Amino acid sequence: MPAVVLVGAQWGDEGKGKATDLLGSRVDAVVKFNGGNNAGHTIVIGSGEAREKYALHLLPSGILTPGCTPVIGNGVVIDLGVLFGEIDGLEGRGVDTSKLVVSGSAHVIAPYNRTLDQVTERFLGKSKIGTTGRGIGPTYADKMSRIGIRVQDLFDRDVLHAKVTGALNLKNQVLVKIYNRKGFDVDAVVDELASYAERLAPLVADTPLLLEQMLDRGETVVLEAGQATLLDVDHGTYPFVTSSSATAGGACTGSGIPPTRISRVIAVIKAYTTRVGEGPFPTELLDDKGELLRNNGAEFGTTTGRPRRCGWFDAVIGRYATRINGVTDFVLTKLDVLTGLDEVPVCVAYEVDGKRYDELPMNQVDFARAIPVYETFPGWTEDISAARTLDDLPGNARDYVAALEKMIKAPISAIGVGPGRDETIAVRDLLN
Ligand code: GDP
Ligand code: IMO
Ligand code: MG
Repeated sequence: MPAVVLVGAQWGDEGKGKATDLLGSRVDAVVKFNGGNNAGHTIVIGSGEAREKYALHLLPSGILTPGCTPVIGNGVVIDLGVLFGEIDGLEGRGVDTSKLVVSGSAHVIAPYNRTLDQVTERFLGKSKIGTTGRGIGPTYADKMSRIGIRVQDLFDRDVLHAKVTGALNLKNQVLVKIYNRKGFDVDAVVDELASYAERLAPLVADTPLLLEQMLDRGETVVLEAGQATLLDVDHGTYPFVTSSSATAGGACTGSGIPPTRISRVIAVIKAYTTRVGEGPFPTELLDDKGELLRNNGAEFGTTTGRPRRCGWFDAVIGRYATRINGVTDFVLTKLDVLTGLDEVPVCVAYEVDGKRYDELPMNQVDFARAIPVYETFPGWTEDISAARTLDDLPGNARDYVAALEKMIKAPISAIGVGPGRDETIAVRDLLN
């Protein structure tokens, strides 16, 4: 079985964690290929009294599937304290994390980059991005500037010392002279990073080679994105984006798996839209309807606890996600959250200065001024959380799904009707 890519279609938090977990025991490896602990995936396992909730940030969602190899790919940026904290937390709850593999080429989030992320945001004031403050942007900037620290650097103290010295020569100047903060001591940073080396060493592998061998054996590899299409550094709502490639193309560079091995691209899309942080959001609801979606959908960030901005489904964004990622299947999540609404508006196009846009405007200035053109669908009141087939859905819910599918131009192969693993309508097999 070739590799399968799984991405977010909107601005993140679509339910990628649940969707990956859903693929379950038929998956041999789940690779996180971008981002870091800016991601937050909530996965709910079991039902009734036995219902257990897991919040993952750095570990791939496959960690909860016995027998699956979770891989942190070369495209990820790793906060080592968070990594081991998360491993310990899961082990403490009886989850076996022993199969975890980490790329030696992944970059490490150094403490100065966490500080720089936070002070830069403060410095930007009203123009801030609203980052998670985890050091993601500065660490990717270092990677591109070729002054980053990689996992493999931790195992040679001289190399590590030289690299931290090189980075701090520049960073301390910025911290002290521009931001009026204290500089970092090279030895203290080296000691902190090196303190993880012994525990990290047995996890490190040549992950592109390992994945190639798995694919050659006919095993199934899922490449799981953090963040989402509109947060992608190239294809998102720049500059209000994250600093990595969260779209399907990024799955190749971030894992070392070539495009010719990818057979399917699954995009996870919410039945409405949310966004955390700053930036344009055409269908955002600033009224009681937005509050209703936030409360019914428990739309509070898994990572920072911030309330998520909420709005109606945006089919222009869905179509864009299909085009940019080459989506073969959608997983539509949180349909249950819309239950009880009299009617459900869907944005089918935008208007900018009186001109209609059926596709995302190329220019961000236009996107920021886009006014949604809505088509309104009748709602439903029946509880749908027990629906397991399309026929179990009320007619209006089924019509809503069918209308979205047509607008976003790729089949909806699964539908989430609740947070639990089993609270899903499987329309089509996502792997075969
Ligand atoms: P991710 O970052 O894309 O993995 O998504 P998050 O975990 O940050 O946010 C999705 C939230 O929605 C989580 O709390 C999930 O448990 C929850 N969730 C996922 N699918 C469904 C669904 O179909 N219905 C409901 N009600 N909740 C869902
Ligand atoms: P998952 O994987 C939602 C947003 C931040 C901010 C912008 C840049 O759970 O879907 P960063 O710290 O990455 O430099 O912040 O990106 N952001 C997310 N929003 N879900 C996420 O991840 C996000 N990761 C980053 O809120 O607007
Ligand atoms: Mg999330």
